[in-house]
Order: sequence, then structure tokens, then C-alpha cells
Amino acid sequence: MSRRNNLPAPVTALFPAATERARIEDLLTHELGRAMARVSAGPIVPTIDIGAFRAELETLDFDKPRPLEELLRWTIDRMEHGIVQMMQPRYFGLFNPGPSFPSQCADRLTSAFNPQLASSGSSPVPVELESHVIRAVARRAGLPAGATGHFATGGSEANYTSLICALTSSHPGFSADGARAFPGPVAFYTSRECHIAWLKIAHQAGIGRTALRLVATDGRGQMDPQALDAAIRKDRKDGLVPVMVVTTAGTTGGGMIDPLPACAGIAEREHLWHHVDAAWGGAALASERMRGLLSGIERADSITIDAHKWFATTMGCAMFITRHGPVLSEAFHASTSFMPSNVATVDPYLNSVQWSRRFLGLRLFLSLAAAGWAGYGAHVERSVAVIDRIKERLLARGWSTANDSPLAVLAAVPPAALGDIRSLVRRVVASGRVWVAPATFEGRDVVRICATHGETTLEDVDELVAALNDRG
Ligand SMILES: Cc1ncc(COP(=O)(O)O)c(C=O)c1O
Repeated sequence: MSRRNNLPAPVTALFPAATERARIEDLLTHELGRAMARVSAGPIVPTIDIGAFRAELETLDFDKPRPLEELLRWTIDRMEHGIVQMMQPRYFGLFNPGPSFPSQCADRLTSAFNPQLASSGSSPVPVELESHVIRAVARRAGLPAGATGHFATGGSEANYTSLICALTSSHPGFSADGARAFPGPVAFYTSRECHIAWLKIAHQAGIGRTALRLVATDGRGQMDPQALDAAIRKDRKDGLVPVMVVTTAGTTGGGMIDPLPACAGIAEREHLWHHVDAAWGGAALASERMRGLLSGIERADSITIDAHKWFATTMGCAMFITRHGPVLSEAFHASTSFMPSNVATVDPYLNSVQWSRRFLGLRLFLSLAAAGWAGYGAHVERSVAVIDRIKERLLARGWSTANDSPLAVLAAVPPAALGDIRSLVRRVVASGRVWVAPATFEGRDVVRICATHGETTLEDVDELVAALNDRG
């Protein structure tokens, strides 16, 4: 046979035959199930000797291929002992969730089909499905019909998008000339209890970190509207150009919700873009009992909600939502000849930071479709009940609380006999029994306790309270 009618065989290590794939998939499912059972009863913190692991990695130089089965078993073992375990119901930590099962199924489906979500031409169904979910969440927040948006890798990307939109809508020359278009230095405003990634965002956007104005709070962790008003007036007088007010609905440290209606009123009067960073707290919209807490969000120009926080999807899944679709399209427009479609108002690559993109929205679609708003409402309310139980038990043991959040995070202050907070948290975390974080709330050190796992039990709560009161 002539060489022209021959092709080299596919590389089977990368593309094994269907029977081998099925065997490995079964094995993976089985081994993962066993590992997760061990994780949910085991230590939360990494137990691996990281020095030994680095040395082991040195022996893996990629010169000699290894069997995939062996590599998978090895990876499961190292993950089991090498991360803080979000799958553990006694992880009361940062907002990272124990992921919902439908979102895990979504990841599996997405990996199998590997759709390219840059354009509606290549992925008509996923693009339509994502925008269906975005519209549903926008409606739930009370934004008008026509509100639009997209899925993003995280709250930071979504928040960055809001700043680019604010700058684009503030000056017609920003698109071409960037910050040079403005008649003076640009400024934007959020509270000093905000998520501090805003500083990086200002840096990335080219307006500089000093553009971020950290407005005073009221002593209870909420932005003080009078201080906001005064800061904007002073900056205008000094020749600065205010462009955006950011309110936080669920602060990172204390779960506080800024006074959204008052801040919206100021932004509207001053003709500033109003962004609500509801990265974590946005999930309260699911609960009929709690959604009123976010009243005022419906007046926002844009909103960030992370599905990978309280909506409990797998990591890397946020939403950016705006009532101003044309601004989004203006901010991210591009023109190419090689893409399968160029629909200005629809194609994700023409309306967002990313170009090639993963099918993130399926995670929330499947979870929301399987649980309904009522199911998510019950999930959110359950987290608050977990925090209420913790609070009751800690108060009974002489603790106090620094925050008064209606959401599921506690900024707790131990009695003096338990020593300083940083050492206490170090001791508790090192025990491997539970995981909490040290934080600062209104300038005060606190133990930050957050309900992030949908299956935490009262026994887990008791274990947390015992660990926190253990003098070591
Ligand atoms: C209020 C708030 N905004 C933004 C972020 C950043 O989100 P991400 O970590 O998804 O980038 C966080 C993270 O905790 C947050 O709490």
C-alpha cells in the first residue's frame, strides 16, 4: 500500500479505544466514590508532606509514559491528602462550597462534549441555555426584561467586567483612548469592607489602584451612604471623575448588605454606574423568606453573583448581569473573519472578557432545574439555620458576635480565656477536625464561621463548637 493511503495510528495513551475508556471511567467512578467516603470522615486539612511531594514530582519528568490507571489512583490519593477538603461538612470556611451533585454531572457532560462557547455558531444550544439561565436570575433580581449577561470564571472577572462597562458608558472616548479620554483621574467607590480584589481590578483596568475609594462603614459593616455622598462631592470638587458606585450584598468578612436603596439613589442622582457585588449573598434571591433582604438590587446597572459560592456549583462559575446590553457589546466588541458567527448581541466572545470558553452555565442550569427556586431557597435557609445553631451554642459558652448578618456567616469573638484569635484559629485548623478562618470585621479580629456545605449536621455543629472551645 502506498504511504499516501496510510496514516499513523492515533496515540492510544491520549485516545484509548472505547472499551478501555469505559473500563477506566468505571474504575474512576468507583475509586472516587470510595475516596469521597473517606474524605467526609477524615481530616479537613492537607496531611501530605509537601517537601516529599515536591521530591516525588521531580521523579516525574515526562520522559517515560506511565499507565493512566496508575496515574489516576496516584492523583486521587494525593488530592485526598493534599487539599483543604470542601467536600467535608465540617468545613466552615471561605465561601467555597461542597458542590451540588447536578453541577458535578454538568462538568462530566461538558468534558465529554467539550463545546466551544465562544460563539453561537459553534455552540447554539449551550449559548441559548446559558442566556436562559442568566435571564431567569436577572428576572429573579427584578431587572427589566432585556437584561443580559454571561457566565464568568469568578466574581473577580464579573466585577472587572462591571468596571469596564462603567468606564465605557461614562465616556465615549474610553473605548479608543482608555483612561486618557477622561478630563481628570477616574474614581470609583465601594466600602472598606468590600472584597479587596477591587484593587487588582482597578490596576488591570489601567485606572490605577488609587482610583478605588474605600468609603467608611457605619460600624456594623455596611457602607455609610452619607460618607459615600461626601466622598463623591469632594472628588468632583478636586477635579476627579467619579464613574461607579459598588455596593456589596453580602460582604466577605461579615455577610453584611450595604443599604442598597440609599446607595442606588446616590448613584442615580450622580449619574454613576451602580454595580451590586452579590458574589455570595445573591443566592438569597432564591429564598422567598430572604429575597427581600436584597431589595434595591433591582435598580442596579449590573450585578455579580457567583454560582460557585452559595449556589454550590463546582468552582469557577460566576454570573455578570446587566440591564445595559448595548454597553456590554460596546465594551467587548471585536471583528474577525474566522469565527463561525458574529452576532453582536449574542456571541459570548463579543460580550465578555473571555474568547474561548467552557460551558460553565450548565452547572447552574442542571442544579436549578433539578432543585427549582424552592430547592435552592431551602438550601440557603438551611445554611442560615446552621449558623443560628452555632451562634446559640457559642453565646452560651461566653462568646460574642461582631456582626449582625441575616446571611450564613458569623464573625465570632471568643472569651478572653481562649487567647488571641489568630492562635486560636491556628490551633483549631491544625486539629483537622473543623475549618474556620481568621478575619477582620470593622477593624476587629474575629473568627469567621460560614455555612458552606449543604449537608452539615448538628453533630458537625457540636464538633465545631467543641473544637473552638478546646484550649489544646
Ligand atoms: C463579595 C465578594 N466579591 C467578590 C469575590 C471574588 O470572587 P471570586 O473569588 O469568585 O473571584 C468574593 C470572594 O469571596 C466576595 O466575597
